[in-house]
Amino acid sequence: MRKPMVAGNWKLNGNRASSAALVDALMSADIAGVDVLICPPLVYLAELIARASAGGLGFGSQDVDLHAEGAFTGEISAAMLRDVGATACIVGHSERRQYHAESSRLVADKTRVAAAAGLQPIVCVGETLEEREAGRTEWVLQQQIAPLLEDLGGLDGIVLAYEPVWAIGTGKTASAAQAQEVHAWLRSEFRAVNAKMADSLVILYGGSVKPSNAADIFAQRDIDGGLIGGASLVVADFLAIVAAAKPL
Ligand code: PGA
Repeated sequence: MRKPMVAGNWKLNGNRASSAALVDALMSADIAGVDVLICPPLVYLAELIARASAGGLGFGSQDVDLHAEGAFTGEISAAMLRDVGATACIVGHSERRQYHAESSRLVADKTRVAAAAGLQPIVCVGETLEEREAGRTEWVLQQQIAPLLEDLGGLDGIVLAYEPVWAIGTGKTASAAQAQEVHAWLRSEFRAVNAKMADSLVILYGGSVKPSNAADIFAQRDIDGGLIGGASLVVADFLAIVAAAKPL
């Protein structure tokens, strides 16, 4: 049985007061049965982890650097994240791929480094609308996961997030059937390399998940939860999504 996970990606939103208020509200909610992870802006991460020390929330970053230390201005290492109590990190989000030109090779390398440091990497993959309409979804995803599959030996415990780029922040969601089809295909690609790992691989769906569509999406066999952007900033919406992920 894979434990459901709901991760909130706050992106570049909020401030110190709103972040604290959001965490306080989540702390008092019943999240039993679901791994709930918060990925706030990095500048608030350590403070929020300390604030939530009594609760069952997990915390992660939205990115991580490849290097352990050195002259890499602006970067943060996996060990630093561990040092302040983070347990996870998002890697390869489509916004990092798009605005920071992150390649799938770099994403796989970051994934390996983060996992080796004891962080749980949440690796994002997904196609653009143009790619989907051209019938190239599987080909694109294949390119994105190929470097990961090469490294699979060291990747026990990674989480995959399927996030169609056309569904992120657009209000357009993949239908539950569309998402399930891709999730099942992704799992089969991992199964071809490592059957045991594929069965335990948590695969999240991301892209305009909201309270109104979460239950339908999470009911799919190969969908193990969600990576939530916009709706993770609204306590009631995020908690409704967490509730939809609870095992029956
Ligand atoms: P969204 O973002 O829920 O706002 O579409 C999801 C994501 O980018 O992880």
